[in-house]
Amino acid sequence: MPAPGHVTADPAPPAAPTGGIRRATRRVSRRTLVALDQLGAGLGTTLLALVTLVGVALVAAGCLLWVGRFLVPAALQALRLAADRERARLARYGPEIVGPGPVPTGLRAAAADPTTRRELLWLVSHATVGLLLSIIALTLPLSAVTDVVFPLFWYLLPPEDATPTLVPWTVRDWPTALAVVPFSLVWLALTVALAPVMARLQSRPGWRLLPPDPETDLSVRVAQLTATRAAALDAHAVELRRIERSLHDGAQNRLVAVTVLVGAARRAVARDPALADDVLGRAQDAAEQALAELRTVVRSILPPVLADRGLEGSLAGLAAACPVPCRLDVDLRADTAGRCAASVEATTYFVVAEALTNIAKHSGARHAAVAVTRRDDRLLVRIHDDGGGGADGAAGSGLAGIRRRAEAFDGRFALTSPPGGPTTIEVELPCGS
Ligand SMILES: Nc1ncnc2c1ncn2[C@@H]1O[C@H](COP(=O)(O)OP(=O)(O)OP(=O)(O)O)[C@@H](O)[C@H]1O
Ligand SMILES: [Mg+2]
Repeated sequence: MPAPGHVTADPAPPAAPTGGIRRATRRVSRRTLVALDQLGAGLGTTLLALVTLVGVALVAAGCLLWVGRFLVPAALQALRLAADRERARLARYGPEIVGPGPVPTGLRAAAADPTTRRELLWLVSHATVGLLLSIIALTLPLSAVTDVVFPLFWYLLPPEDATPTLVPWTVRDWPTALAVVPFSLVWLALTVALAPVMARLQSRPGWRLLPPDPETDLSVRVAQLTATRAAALDAHAVELRRIERSLHDGAQNRLVAVTVLVGAARRAVARDPALADDVLGRAQDAAEQALAELRTVVRSILPPVLADRGLEGSLAGLAAACPVPCRLDVDLRADTAGRCAASVEATTYFVVAEALTNIAKHSGARHAAVAVTRRDDRLLVRIHDDGGGGADGAAGSGLAGIRRRAEAFDGRFALTSPPGGPTTIEVELPCGS
């Protein structure tokens, strides 16, 4: 029996055992692919971190001889660049990390800056342990591939090198070469078991050290709030312009046509009543079209369905209308916490509507899931699909609009959509009630 305020639309059918195994295999392979994608991107930032670490160490050594002092600003810029690259990489797999304030310019300012100290700690860990983790993790699937294709090239190897890593014999003929192939399964199992753990270990220092320190970086927070306030005002202006354009190009034009047609009918009524009747019919059509356009514009401002059916009901309508089978879980616990502000509910509605439209248009997914959960004074919205992934917030206006709407509430937006899928959008909004 679901809890009050908990709606489930289109529940998944009971899983057949083979379907369950297939789903579990898909989940494990996706998790492994996502982890390898993270570690591959991580290799890039670890190499950058290594080069930066060497540069910073040289500048630090140079400082002992004074000459290095002139290079301190460049070293600090390079440190920030490497840290920002890692922030951007981490934001692809989780919430966005807000960048810190300006880079300190001198040695004394840098020594007193807690952000620089945290970035330096991250640099050392990422350039050493992080690099090692990427190399080891990416070697595992490469070894699996090498063992699979070993029979194709063993005879080209010098006899003393024809011993693959896990194989306890030296390959001298075809049977011993073919016997190498099953060892690829061991590499594959190691990849599946270790890649997600290694990806997490590699990201952990970044997640801990690169976000701004909440105690000391209040100025960054103020700057961020100022930026989101400006974004909210921008979004407001864009919205007004959109409404103005819709009214101008739609309803207003139709009403102009109505007045012209009614004028023509008045002139014709005495001389040709049949023509006047025909023209009046066209005027009526135009008036009905104007009404329909007005209804569409009104719905796009604040969907009346929200007032009629509440958030659960209107989301159930969206889920039911989605061409991809969509599971909906809404847990608002409205009885204990009161309803969210109308603007938050409207934003949730628009976010889910856009995400489901994207799923239908771009994902190729077989299943989608929407979960809306209230946690104290926050509303968490999660839209997930098992499609092909690769969603890009910079490619259109829909995802950027979701981000802007969330930021306008000082909320959080996270998009995870590695190539191959799955895609998850998470939006967190303060309830404002
Ligand atoms: N669920 C998804 N699965 C796969 N790809 C997606 C998904 N959502 C978005 N995308 C990709 O990300 C791009 C950006 O999406 P976005 O919603 O911002 O723009 P759009 O849907 O192309 O246009 P519009 O501005 O009309 O929304 C899309 O063009 C699509 O390629
Ligand atoms: Mg879209």
